[in-house]
Amino acid sequence: MPLNISNMIRPFLSSDMQDISDMLYSDNEWAKTLWGNYNSISIDSDYWNPAFVYEEDGKVIAYVKMESDSVHRYTNIQNLYVNVNHRKKWIAKKLLEKCYEYAISIWFNVTELVCFTEELSQMYQKLWFTLLSHYKKPYYVWFQDKYILYKYLWEQ
Ligand SMILES: CC(C)(COP(=O)(O)OP(=O)(O)OC[C@H]1O[C@@H](n2cnc3c(N)ncnc32)[C@H](O)[C@@H]1OP(=O)(O)O)[C@@H](O)C(=O)NCCC(=O)NCCS
Repeated sequence: MPLNISNMIRPFLSSDMQDISDMLYSDNEWAKTLWGNYNSISIDSDYWNPAFVYEEDGKVIAYVKMESDSVHRYTNIQNLYVNVNHRKKWIAKKLLEKCYEYAISIWFNVTELVCFTEELSQMYQKLWFTLLSHYKKPYYVWFQDKYILYKYLWEQ
């Protein structure tokens, strides 16, 4: 199969920031989420905390960021986002696979993530994560349920 260089996953560059913020702020649903409400969008990418983008025809249409604990050798998947017009085409899956591959290459053992809906928790379980805990409101201090999931990187 010929290599399609216009559709690719590559490391985040600071020049991608404009595309990413345009993509997020044009999504009204995103603006209503906890993440859209409280997080300012900034991405600092480095060796332990890389970010990757998925680009189609020169435009960023998805990104993911990892945050790592290099001492305990685990990493968190953060800010996974796919443009609303490009969902359900396994782009998130490809970005997560990229994260697993990268994390393994720097000898990490485990990856974790936090999400806030049953639907997303189910999605991550399809993508090889295991549910570690589910804090239900009102027991959880925040105002919504919280799901913590993990994946050992050395097994599929
Ligand atoms: C969640 C999100 C990243 C999924 O992106 P996507 O590219 O559409 O996901 P994929 O196509 O790679 O889906 C992978 C699998 O998960 C399933 N899936 C995707 N979105 C899902 C959802 N919202 N609920 C349940 N399952 C879902 C897909 O059906 C697919 O399963 P399959 O292989 O059996 O068909 C995207 O909807 C998004 O950006 N949402 C807004 C931001 C967000 O909530 N990010 C997560 C923060 S924790």
